[in-house]
Amino acid sequence: MKAVVFTEHGDLDVLKYTDAPEPAAGPGEVVLRMRAAACNFNDIWARKGLPRVSLPLPHISGTDGAGEVVEVGAGVGNLKIGDEVITYPVNACRRCDACLAGEEVFCKEMRIWGFQTGPLEGAYAEYANVQAAQCHPRPAHLSWAEAAATSTSLLSVWRMLVTRAKVQPADQVLIWGASGGTGSFAVQLTALLNAIPIAVTSSEEKARFCEEMGAAHVLLHDRQDVAAEVRRITGGRGVDVVFDHVGQEVWSTSVESLRWGGTIVICGATTGYKPTIDLRYLWNKQLSFLGSHIGTRREWLHALKLVEQKRLRVPVTRVYPLAEVKEAQRAMEERKLLGKLAIEVA
Ligand SMILES: NC(=O)c1ccc[n+]([C@@H]2O[C@H](COP(=O)([O-])OP(=O)(O)OC[C@H]3O[C@@H](n4cnc5c(N)ncnc54)[C@H](OP(=O)(O)O)[C@@H]3O)[C@@H](O)[C@H]2O)c1
Ligand SMILES: [Zn+2]
Repeated sequence: MKAVVFTEHGDLDVLKYTDAPEPAAGPGEVVLRMRAAACNFNDIWARKGLPRVSLPLPHISGTDGAGEVVEVGAGVGNLKIGDEVITYPVNACRRCDACLAGEEVFCKEMRIWGFQTGPLEGAYAEYANVQAAQCHPRPAHLSWAEAAATSTSLLSVWRMLVTRAKVQPADQVLIWGASGGTGSFAVQLTALLNAIPIAVTSSEEKARFCEEMGAAHVLLHDRQDVAAEVRRITGGRGVDVVFDHVGQEVWSTSVESLRWGGTIVICGATTGYKPTIDLRYLWNKQLSFLGSHIGTRREWLHALKLVEQKRLRVPVTRVYPLAEVKEAQRAMEERKLLGKLAIEVA
């Protein structure tokens, strides 16, 4: 089969569109004929390699897939050949205390499919094996590319805003990287929670996109003083919640922008993970710093309801053929994207 494979970590040139062995369905697994995949910044971390994280090589990235079941492994009762499904990102043991409690994100064997799994395995391939427990029926009204893009970003955003930060109606929420994959779902979900999304982005075109997603205010971080604008918008009070995945470069602005008693919820650190923290702000302003990672299958089902009810848009703005995964990753690295990028598998 054709797939996008890397056998060593490095820059874009390590990605090869090549022949790879076809997967077989192990016990509890199915093989999907992939129809589409969606891109996440995680793909770039996997390709570059992360300190103290060992990823099995050769590696096929792609955590968000949509396709048809073509093979069913032993012990799978809930799926049959021909079913059209999308994939939940978490591969877990499904039998430990955490898994049985529906908290598979705390399973000791938890691995993000297409990121930490392998050798091979992810969605940037004609065929891929996944745990049957990762599969969910494809939302009928979506294209294959849109269906694939309902997974990692949306799930992570739900956990960050609903479960972790517990955003309330009328809360003001500052959203960094608001025009990207995670950010564009965060803007929409904040608005759906009857809270007020204050989007931060970097260009007029991206600002218009954030407004389309439902942003009440849009700030341009390269030409505006974000903390000063937040003070202006909030009448000097500061925001209730900061939604962040940009990390180091924006950390002090995030802390400065929070109201007393406010919360930062963070799931990533694209610009670096070692910010300087002045701990006095933490106790004097009585702030909460919350980490969030992926999400449970139950959280995903809640988020998917909004998609199925057509209250939440799946903002796929560009679809690349499988052979051009490298170009999609280039666009992400160069920040030349709006919303979600997807891959079509012919
Ligand atoms: N732990 C988890 O569960 C989880 C889940 C999803 C994502 N993440 C992490 O979240 C991050 C974003 O992922 P993604 O898939 O949403 O990526 P993405 O679609 O490429 O979006 C990233 C956005 O970050 C903004 N950005 C980048 N550098 C910036 C800077 N120096 N200052 C301000 N904004 C900056 C860009 O927006 P502008 O150009 O508009 O500024 C860009 O749109 C990644 O680090 C990813 O690993 C983690
Ligand atoms: Zn488990």
